[in-house]
Amino acid sequence: MNPVGFDIKFFRTLPAELEDKVRELNQTAPDLTQRNLSPEKKKEHFDKFCSEKDTYGWILAFEGEEVIGRTAIFKRKISFQDKYMILGGIGKMRVNLNKRQLGIGSAIMREAMKRLAAENCEAVFLCTNLHSFLRHFYENFGFKVIPGSYTFSGASGKRYQEYDGMIAPCKNSGLANQVISGQTILDIGPGNW
Ligand SMILES: CC(C)(COP(=O)(O)OP(=O)(O)OC[C@H]1O[C@@H](n2cnc3c(N)ncnc32)[C@H](O)[C@@H]1OP(=O)(O)O)[C@@H](O)C(=O)NCCC(=O)NCCS
Repeated sequence: MNPVGFDIKFFRTLPAELEDKVRELNQTAPDLTQRNLSPEKKKEHFDKFCSEKDTYGWILAFEGEEVIGRTAIFKRKISFQDKYMILGGIGKMRVNLNKRQLGIGSAIMREAMKRLAAENCEAVFLCTNLHSFLRHFYENFGFKVIPGSYTFSGASGKRYQEYDGMIAPCKNSGLANQVISGQTILDIGPGNW
């Protein structure tokens, strides 16, 4: 148990009895980037964020039996500068509205980065609202803003180019440094997270 009364647990797959509790956080703790989407934007969102098959696991924060925070971590083989590399990812990060700014999100992030390093991920990628406190939140864990764009394909096959990416070194600093230097556009593969 953590000093402020929460536990952090890792699940390789989400136990069925926790699925509803984890999903409930979508309603009680909406993402800054996803509020009030039109039906067209919602459709596009699902086309873009189609990386379920690369989910490596879930990190959940508990207060007793209650799930008060979560993130999904991802792992994918990508091609970068003609070499295969393992890219880690962070997505679906949420902390219950009433439990914020108590260090729970940071504790989840620490566990996420530890798990991804143990899986030999060269670097960890995420996308976020770079014009909010989230940029500082992720910078605390070694993430830097990707200058310019990154790219990926959607479930429909459509190619997207986005400007809200951050990357952190994980197992080594090579991939992250090369992406930050801006020489090659990072293609994260099929689906964002
Ligand atoms: C992002 C989120 C998970 C952070 O969780 P949290 O438990 O409140 O984070 P922490 O308490 O560990 O805070 C870590 C740092 O972020 C800062 N921070 C957190 N919320 C903040 C806010 N609303 N405004 C300004 N700074 C904030 C903290 O002050 C702290 O900074 P410090 O290290 O300089 O002291 C939470 O705000 C959330 O669920 N937001 C809605 C969902 C979302 O937008 N997710 C991100 C999708 S990319």
